[in-house]
Amino acid sequence: MRRTVPVRLGDRSYEVVVGPGVRNSLAEVVRRLGAERAVVVSARPDEWVPDTGVETLLLPARDGEQGKTLATVEALCGEFVRFGLTRSDVVVSCGGGTTTDVVGLAAALYHRGVDVIHLPTSLLAQVDASVGGKTAVNLREGKNLVGAFWQPRAVLCDTDYLSTLPAREMLSGLGEIARCHFIGAGDLRGLPLTEQIAASVTLKAGIVEVDERDAGKRHLLNYGHTLGHALELATGFALRHGEAVAVGTVFAGRLAHALGRVDRSRADEHLAVVRHYGLPTALPAEVDPELLVRQMHRDKKAVSGLGFVLDGPEGAQLVTDVPQEVVFRVLAGMPRAPMDSLVGAATPDAVLT
Ligand code: GLY
Repeated sequence: MRRTVPVRLGDRSYEVVVGPGVRNSLAEVVRRLGAERAVVVSARPDEWVPDTGVETLLLPARDGEQGKTLATVEALCGEFVRFGLTRSDVVVSCGGGTTTDVVGLAAALYHRGVDVIHLPTSLLAQVDASVGGKTAVNLREGKNLVGAFWQPRAVLCDTDYLSTLPAREMLSGLGEIARCHFIGAGDLRGLPLTEQIAASVTLKAGIVEVDERDAGKRHLLNYGHTLGHALELATGFALRHGEAVAVGTVFAGRLAHALGRVDRSRADEHLAVVRHYGLPTALPAEVDPELLVRQMHRDKKAVSGLGFVLDGPEGAQLVTDVPQEVVFRVLAGMPRAPMDSLVGAATPDAVLT
C-alpha cells in the first residue's frame, strides 16, 4: 500500500510518498531532478540507505538535539564543498526529525540553496518534521532559534523504517497523529498506520499551502503544544515530544471546555482519542504547575498573556489572553501520575492495525 500526498506550492510543489519500501524510489527522484551527485546524510545503518543512482558521498549522522547546531551545518557544508557538490546536485537526509532539520538547513544555506530530499525514519518526522519546509538548529539559548523555510523536492516516508523504531519513539509520533483529530483530519483511529501517516501529512500539506510562513493557520499544527513544550522542558525531556503533546491535547480539551468553547463530551473526546493511541493522559505528579505556567508565558504564541490553540464552535483557533487563573484551575483538575507510570504500559492500538 502506497499513498502519495501533493504539497502544492507553485514551482516549489512536491510529493510526499508514504508506504513500505518507498525509499527505493530515491534514484528515480534524483534522476528526475537531474542531479549528477548526491550527498546522503544518514543516521541509519548503511543497509537502510537506498541507492541514489548517481555518484554519492555518504556521511554518518546521529539523531538527537545535541547535533542540531550551527557547527554541524558548517561541518556538513564543508563536506559538500570538498565533494564538489554543485547547485544542481542534491542533498538527502535520512533520519529522525533532528537530522531532517539540520540537513535541511545546510541545504538551504549551501550555495544559497540546493535541492534536498528527506527520508524521515521516525514516525514523528514522517507525520510532521520532514514536511512543510521548516528547518532549524538550536542555540545554547533555546531550541530551533536559527532556521529557514526550505521546502524539500520530495519526501519519502518509508514505513519499513518504523519496524526498528523503539516503542517510545513510536508513541511520540502517535502524539502528533492524535492531535490531528482536533485540527481537521477527522477520526483516524482504527486506520492502518500508512493511512494515518498519509492523513496527517494531507492535513499538514493543506495548512502549509495556505500559510507556508507560519503567519496564521499554521499555528493549528501546534494543537496541544503550548503545554506540551512546557512539559518537555519541565521534565528535562523525560517526556518525549509527542507524549508531552498528548498530555497537552487532553489539557487543551479541558481548557476549551472551561472557557465555554466546547461541551463536556468534546473535552472527554480528547481524553478518549489520546488514550486510544496508548499515550499518557495525566500530568507528571513531580511537575510544579507554577513552573508550567511560567514556561507557557514564554511560548511563541503568547504574544500577550497566555496563548493556546483551542477547539471551539468554528473548529480549532488560536486563542490569546487566556486568563491565568483559568489555566491554573484546569491544571489543578488534571489527573496526575508519577512520571515512571505515565509511559510504556499501554500498547497503542494503531501499531496493531
Ligand atoms: N511542526 C509545526 C510546523 O511545521 O509548523
